[in-house]
Amino acid sequence: MGSSRLLIFFILPILLVLDPLAPAIVGDHISDGVCTRIADYCWSCSNTNNTFNNGSIYKQNLNTLLSSLPSNAQINPRFYNSSLGQAPDKVNAIAVCRGDVALKDCLTCFSNSVSILLQNCTNKKEAIIWAERCTVRYSNISIFGVLEYEPVKFVPSPNKISNAEQYKQVRDPLFGNLSEKAAAGNSVLKFAAGNALVPLTNQTIYATVQCSPDLNKQNCSDCLQESIPNITECCGGVGGGRVLRPSCYLRFESNPF
Ligand SMILES: *[C@@H]1O[C@H](CO)[C@@H](O)[C@H](O)[C@H]1NC(C)=O
Ligand SMILES: *[C@@H]1O[C@H](CO)[C@@H](O)[C@H](O)[C@H]1NC(C)=O
Ligand SMILES: *[C@@H]1O[C@H](CO)[C@@H](O)[C@H](O)[C@H]1NC(C)=O
Ligand SMILES: *[C@@H]1O[C@H](CO)[C@@H](O)[C@H](O)[C@H]1NC(C)=O
Ligand SMILES: *[C@@H]1O[C@H](CO)[C@@H](O)[C@H](O)[C@H]1NC(C)=O
Ligand SMILES: *[C@@H]1O[C@H](CO)[C@@H](O)[C@H](O)[C@H]1NC(C)=O
Ligand SMILES: *[C@@H]1O[C@H](CO)[C@@H](O)[C@H](O)[C@H]1NC(C)=O
Ligand SMILES: *[C@@H]1O[C@H](CO)[C@@H](O)[C@H](O)[C@H]1NC(C)=O
Ligand SMILES: *[C@@H]1O[C@H](CO)[C@@H](O)[C@H](O)[C@H]1NC(C)=O
Repeated sequence: MGSSRLLIFFILPILLVLDPLAPAIVGDHISDGVCTRIADYCWSCSNTNNTFNNGSIYKQNLNTLLSSLPSNAQINPRFYNSSLGQAPDKVNAIAVCRGDVALKDCLTCFSNSVSILLQNCTNKKEAIIWAERCTVRYSNISIFGVLEYEPVKFVPSPNKISNAEQYKQVRDPLFGNLSEKAAAGNSVLKFAAGNALVPLTNQTIYATVQCSPDLNKQNCSDCLQESIPNITECCGGVGGGRVLRPSCYLRFESNPF
């Protein structure tokens, strides 16, 4: 017990202080993400070693691709993928709308997301933004159909709960069910939403899961299965939260969202 107190009082503060400077997970080419105050948009840009110069062809390609995304996505606003240019200046982009959002809101979400990325990830070759209603990402590396776990961003809701274990016992199987359903989706939509009741307290847990629909069934399922255990670490003591990865995300709340 003494040593665990030591850990909490001495090591934890050091880790918290060092955290912003800590390198991202080994092998990760993207640094940790940030969110707006109300977490309606969270994003992550590639690290300082993965940048382009102002006058570069990459920059031109990226600007052209991103600025045409909201209008081009009208053809299929749920899922849009596109590339522009020749290697090494080729830019690849994917935009995915949340499965239950109205089509016009998808386009608004893409448009707002692109604008945030252009402002907040200047000169970065790779970036991703997880908005509440959509996800947009780009990279110089081919990303279409590729399972990508990193970066991972945990976004816990602020409201604490007292019955964390009861929550977990309902939440994890609910996510298991929804993950199977989403993975069984098609090449434009891999999304599932549902809810379940926590016995005794009558609290309802609302949940959604989604994969980038270009992933195959197995890769979608792998991404979600990898993420379900992360909820305990992310959001075990609170009534809601999100585990965000490039290829998939999970979200739960105690109210419909
Ligand atoms: C960037 O490159 C430098 C020099 O190669 C290296 O020391 C540093 O660790 C790299 N930074 C990141 C975040 O990868
Ligand atoms: C690139 O241009 C932007 C403004 O357009 C400027 O803020 C930034 O400092 C420039 N970066 C480099 C590396 O020149
Ligand atoms: C975009 O997706 C379609 C399938 O939906 C695929 O055939 C095409 O190659 C993809 N394009 C790029 C640039 O990845
Ligand atoms: C992407 O950019 C990184 C960093 O500049 C570079 O090392 C890598 O070779 C590029 N990959 C492709 C496919 O162009
Ligand atoms: C994102 O960019 C906008 C506009 O430049 C700026 O106001 C905002 O502070 C940036 N947000 C973060 C978290 O860096
Ligand atoms: C998961 O699915 C099974 C079989 O369809 C069902 O019996 C169970 O109630 C579901 N559990 C949750 C928490 O949704
Ligand atoms: C839970 O709901 C059931 C049926 O609606 C009700 O009978 C029961 O009293 C409720 N329990 C609590 C703790 O609210
Ligand atoms: C993702 O799917 C591809 C194509 O089926 C497969 O080759 C690859 O092994 C899968 N990746 C992982 C990490 O499972
Ligand atoms: C997420 O959970 C998986 C499976 O338990 C684990 O291997 C991984 O380290 C966790 N990731 C994070 C960032 O905690």
